[in-house]
Amino acid sequence: MKDVVGSPQSLLVLGGTSEIALATVRRLITRRARTVWLAGRPSPALESTARQLRDLGADTLTVPFDALDPEAHEVTLGKVFAEDDIDLVLLAFGVMGVQARDETDPPAAVRVAQTNYTGAVSAALICANAMRRQGHGSLVVLSSAAAGRVSTKLTAGLRPTPLATSPQAVAEAIEEGLRRRAPVVWAPGALRLMTAAHRLLPRAASRLRRVGAAGHDGPADG
Ligand SMILES: NC(=O)c1ccc[n+]([C@@H]2O[C@H](COP(=O)([O-])OP(=O)(O)OC[C@H]3O[C@@H](n4cnc5c(N)ncnc54)[C@H](OP(=O)(O)O)[C@@H]3O)[C@@H](O)[C@H]2O)c1
Repeated sequence: MKDVVGSPQSLLVLGGTSEIALATVRRLITRRARTVWLAGRPSPALESTARQLRDLGADTLTVPFDALDPEAHEVTLGKVFAEDDIDLVLLAFGVMGVQARDETDPPAAVRVAQTNYTGAVSAALICANAMRRQGHGSLVVLSSAAAGRVSTKLTAGLRPTPLATSPQAVAEAIEEGLRRRAPVVWAPGALRLMTAAHRLLPRAASRLRRVGAAGHDGPADG
């Protein structure tokens, strides 16, 4: 349950090793979050993340979770909600496709879509329904806009962009958004204006990059 000043005390992270999630959870632990469930693919990195959070004083448990296995989500996530009252779910899993490879490798493109879209639909709905049954809770979904980046391992090796920011800055924006109960938070804030302006431009002028021999246009990153 949230404490008297409204800070979430019990957190569930989907994508337990996400750098943005970790930065957010660290902030929330300093604001009195007490229990953290890290759902992710079992790995030494997931266990090491759990140890870091325990060292900060949070009871931290790991749960096996694979976005590519939506059939298992109801059982896996259901167990978490059966054991704990979750104040905040942070949906932070995702993969960065490799445009050039994925265009010529349909199964690879499907894996990206299944991870980032199908997996997110499945996990988000299950968590949202569980929080409705609880009668409270917030769901934060990390999404992406073209040219907006946070410098994390997800974007390692990509060319720098003027709008790149840090996991800590995104974590601060998330915390502020939770406090204001904002439905959408942009990080960095300038991205909101840029994206709005981009929508108003004629298609030919807003073209960011021509991809492929068929002339398919698409954003370079996001
Ligand atoms: N960084 C950016 O520039 C940026 C910009 C906009 C939006 N976002 C979004 O913000 C979220 C977090 O980004 P980040 O920068 O913190 O990324 P990150 O540090 O690379 O973390 C990505 C997370 O996704 C997990 N993941 C990948 N495939 C999975 C699967 N099949 N099942 C379960 N977990 C899986 C990874 O787990 P493993 O440890 O098992 O690989 C890791 O925990 C992502 O959804 C990303 O699209 C990022």
